[in-house]
Amino acid sequence: MISNKKIYKHNFMLPNKLKSILSDINEVIKHKNIIVYLVGGCVRDLLLGLENLDLDFVTLDDGLNFAKMVHKRMGGKLTVHNNFRTGSINLGNRINIDIVTARKEYYEEPGKLPKVEFGSLLDDLIRRDFTMNTLLLDFKNLDNPIIYDYFDGVSDLYNKKIRVLHDNSFIDDPTRIYRAVRFTCRYNFEIEDNTLKLINKALKNNVLTSVSEDRLFTEIIKGIKERNSYKVLKKYDEFNLFSFISNTMFINNVIIDKFNNLEQINKIKKGYKFPQISDTEVKIMILFHNLKEKELQNLLEKLSLKKDTKKKLLELKENYGKTLNILSKPNLSSYELYKTLNKKTYEEILYYLIMNYNDNIIRSRIYQYTTNFKNKKLLIDGKDIKDLGVKEGPIYKKILDIMLKETLNNNLNTKEKQLKVLKEVIKNNERSDYND
Ligand code: CTP
Repeated sequence: MISNKKIYKHNFMLPNKLKSILSDINEVIKHKNIIVYLVGGCVRDLLLGLENLDLDFVTLDDGLNFAKMVHKRMGGKLTVHNNFRTGSINLGNRINIDIVTARKEYYEEPGKLPKVEFGSLLDDLIRRDFTMNTLLLDFKNLDNPIIYDYFDGVSDLYNKKIRVLHDNSFIDDPTRIYRAVRFTCRYNFEIEDNTLKLINKALKNNVLTSVSEDRLFTEIIKGIKERNSYKVLKKYDEFNLFSFISNTMFINNVIIDKFNNLEQINKIKKGYKFPQISDTEVKIMILFHNLKEKELQNLLEKLSLKKDTKKKLLELKENYGKTLNILSKPNLSSYELYKTLNKKTYEEILYYLIMNYNDNIIRSRIYQYTTNFKNKKLLIDGKDIKDLGVKEGPIYKKILDIMLKETLNNNLNTKEKQLKVLKEVIKNNERSDYND
C-alpha cells in the first residue's frame, strides 16, 4: 500500500483524563527536541469516542530514556525492555503508557516473532496490522490536536472496515486473524473484502500451525475478555480458530450459550451473593468443558498458565461428575452440601451454576450454599475441646463434625454461641462411646 499522508485537523476535544496525561508528557519534552506521537489503539478509540487509557507512544528518540523521564515525572511502575529501547509505565487506575522507539520489523519465518531494527516513523506504521491502527496523534497543542493518517485509516474507521496494509500481513503475523475477528465483534465492523480473502488464503495454507499453542491461547483469552465474548467465540469458531490449539477442542452451541448465560448471570450474581470475581477464570473453565481429562492435560502442558491454575483446572475436570451427583441427591443435608462446596472457589461454584443453570435442584442448592452457608464457619477448634477435658483422639473429628452441623443448622455465628453448644455436645455424649 502506498502511503499517502493526510493531515486531519479534527475539531475534537481531548477527553480530560487523556488531556491531563498528554499535558504531563508535553512538560517532559518541553525545551527538548523530542518528537513523540500517540499511536495505535488509543487514537483509534479516541476517534470512535471510546475511552482507552492504554497509551502507546512512538518516538524517533530513545524510547527507553524517554520512558524514564516520564516515569520520573509521573511515577507509577516502570518496566524496561533494553533490547528494543522501550519502556512501559503502569500508572494504576487502568492507565498504561508504552513508549517505543520507532522500529522496522522483519519476519524471517511466518508465525515467529519478528526481527527488530530502529527505523523511521513510516517504518513503524507500516509494520502494523490494520489501517485503523496506524493513526498518529500530534498533541503538542492540546487544544488543537492533529491526526496524521498515512494509510486512509480514518476513512476505514468511519466506514467500519478492517483492512490490512499489505498482502503478507497474516503470513507475517497469523495472530492478526484473531485480532481482526475481535475487532469486528467489538466495534461491529466488517473485514474488508481483500483482507477477508487474505485471511481465508492464510488459513487454507495452515499459517496458524507455525504459531505456538500458547500464543494462540493468548488470543483466545483476549477474545473471552471482550464484553460480548460469546460473539467473539462464535466468530472464532466460524473461522475454525480453535482447532489450531487442540484438535479435540471444539465450541458448540452449548458453550456459546453458556458464555451468553454468564453475561446475563452477572446481573443476578448479586442475588447469589457472589463477590466481585474475575469471569475470565470461569470462562476458561467453560471453554475446556468439552475436553476429556487426558485431552485437557495434553493441552495444558503446552500452555504457560500458572502451575496452580493448571492443577485447579485438572482437579475440576476430575471431580465435576462426582460433585454434580452429590448436588443432585434428593435428600442432601446441609452438612453434605457444605462439605461438597466449601473447598471450592467462587469461580468454580459459578462454573457449576452456569453449566447447570437449567437444573432447578442444583441451582437452588448453590443458592442455599452461597447465601446461607458460604460464610458460616466453625470458630472453635481442637484446643477448645481439649480445654473442656476431652482426651485427644479420633473423637475430636467426630465432635467437630457435629459442631459443624449445629453451626449450619442453627445460627451459631459467634464463638460464645458455639462454645455453649460444644459443652452440651460433650456433656450429652460423655456416657456414650465418645471416650472409648
Ligand atoms: N499490533 C500489530 N500486530 C499485532 C499486535 C499489535 O500490528 N499482532 C500493533 C497495532 O498497531 C496495535 C498496536 O500494535 O494498535 C498495539 O497493540 P495492542 O495494544 O495489543 O493493540 P490495540 O490495537 O491497542 O488493541 P486492544 O484495544 O485490543 O488492546
